[in-house]
Amino acid sequence: MRLHSSLGDFRAYRASFEGGCVVVPTMGALHAGHAALIRAGVALARERHLSAGCIVTVFVNPTQFNDPADLEKYPRNLEADAALCRQAGADCVLAPSVHEVYPKPDFAPMPSLPAVAAGPGLEEASRPGHFQGVCQVVNRLFEITGPRCAVFGEKDWQQLQVVRAMSPVWGGRPVEVASVPTVREPDGLAMSSRNAQLPPSARRAAAGLASAFVEAAKAKVWQDAERAAAGALGRTGAHVEYVAVREPSTLMPLPPGATEGRILWAVRLGGVRLIDNAPWRAVSA
Ligand code: PAJ
Repeated sequence: MRLHSSLGDFRAYRASFEGGCVVVPTMGALHAGHAALIRAGVALARERHLSAGCIVTVFVNPTQFNDPADLEKYPRNLEADAALCRQAGADCVLAPSVHEVYPKPDFAPMPSLPAVAAGPGLEEASRPGHFQGVCQVVNRLFEITGPRCAVFGEKDWQQLQVVRAMSPVWGGRPVEVASVPTVREPDGLAMSSRNAQLPPSARRAAAGLASAFVEAAKAKVWQDAERAAAGALGRTGAHVEYVAVREPSTLMPLPPGATEGRILWAVRLGGVRLIDNAPWRAVSA
């Protein structure tokens, strides 16, 4: 596996490969959820006969953080990340610097935000500008790596819909966006680079968060599912930012009698912001 911690170095390598690649964009602090994406990326590269294989980018993107303290304390450990990538079968890790990704403040254009990003009352309401930064960096990382396919996790369901709605194109061809289901801890907590920041008591309480999905699954209508999930999240001691059952791809509110959707929530627990989601279907009478 190749490890490029500078863009110049990577450019020379990229000039030497033909046939495209699969890219797995990450912010590092990699865990088993990321490993699942990388394994899927490796398999996809093989299926599509992409000779450059699977490239993992590790870049903590400042333009998607609205809180400077959050950016500051984001965990960074390239050595451990490279070891995980190697084990998962990646062909290359690219970890460029902020200056290389954004040589001038106005270098990478802010793409127009797909309408789906503004799903009312969801991430964009809590973190204004977040998806704008995600679209900006995803475009820039695609420009750098020139992928035929890209792999994203269902863990960040809204991000996945926003990237799909961007309809990314590279070299005149649409970039195929593949997705991987959320990988969870044995107690149901979705794996996240932020889990390591949970104080021990909050980590124990976080085991109760997955019960929100269990409670929601008992509801006959989505309005009750939202109420039941909010109750379950609140009982862990978390502060609930939002809980909503939405149309899965547009993220818009469901019509009153809808029996299927995606349940999405964000909470703050022990000073850490956590998000999760799952499919929702009304319990049959
Ligand atoms: P990051 O949080 O590092 O996540 C990188 C990718 O891993 C995302 O596609 C995310 O959905 C996926 N992922 C994270 N935890 C997962 C889990 N438990 N199961 C399955 N997939 C999981 O998302 C970002 O970085 C950034 O916004 C990025 C897209 C890299 C742009 O900066």
